[in-house]
Amino acid sequence: MEYEAIQKIYHNYSNFYDLLFKKVFLPRHKFAIKEMDIQPGDKILDVGVGTGLTLQCYPRDCQVTGIDLSPSMLKKAYKKKIKHGLDHVTLMEMDACNLTFDDDEFDHVVAAFVLTVVPDPVKALQEIKRVCKKGGILVLVNHFMSDNKLIAKTEKLIDPVCRKLGWRTNVALADLLDQVNLKADSCVRMKKLDIWSIVFANNTK
Ligand SMILES: C[S@@+](CC[C@H](N)C(=O)[O-])C[C@H]1O[C@@H](n2cnc3c(N)ncnc32)[C@H](O)[C@@H]1O
Repeated sequence: MEYEAIQKIYHNYSNFYDLLFKKVFLPRHKFAIKEMDIQPGDKILDVGVGTGLTLQCYPRDCQVTGIDLSPSMLKKAYKKKIKHGLDHVTLMEMDACNLTFDDDEFDHVVAAFVLTVVPDPVKALQEIKRVCKKGGILVLVNHFMSDNKLIAKTEKLIDPVCRKLGWRTNVALADLLDQVNLKADSCVRMKKLDIWSIVFANNTK
């Protein structure tokens, strides 16, 4: 998907994103962030922070930087930061595929429901790896293409329609991880037939 199209779609979503997605996404955010075992003082990058649904899941004694391409989504996240007094949160407009951070700047990185939205998931994951310290945890919460051939075929078929809605359905986790030389330590589904996976990978660099 192209940058302008993504910005336009998420500008349109921004006013009712929480209404549509909070109920299904938040339990997954909470689980993922709790499992990370974030320590006091840790620096966390939240890639594609959106309206900031994840922000209240982080302990207040860590430092969270949330980046997003969409100013409209970030505006909603900023409102949450102010409303809940989240002084440990910094928000920035930035492209996940071209992060302006130094190498090894963060202890851990979270990318929730974003790798299937960015124009280039491989580049975004390479950037995530680069800015995260060796040994840091990379958490990817996302829908990935099914291992079941029939379901995967359907997911490829519906991909053009889903792109118009703001995400793609043809990203295969194993291929993606291979291309950036990463291995998943665990891949959790909160329900047996959940369409979203919560992937934890140690950043071996
Ligand atoms: C489905 S939303 C997920 C938001 C949030 N992480 C959550 O879990 O609710 C996808 C977000 O990715 C952002 N996004 C898309 N492409 C991006 C890019 N190249 N760089 C940064 N953010 C991007 C969109 O603006 C949108 O806010």
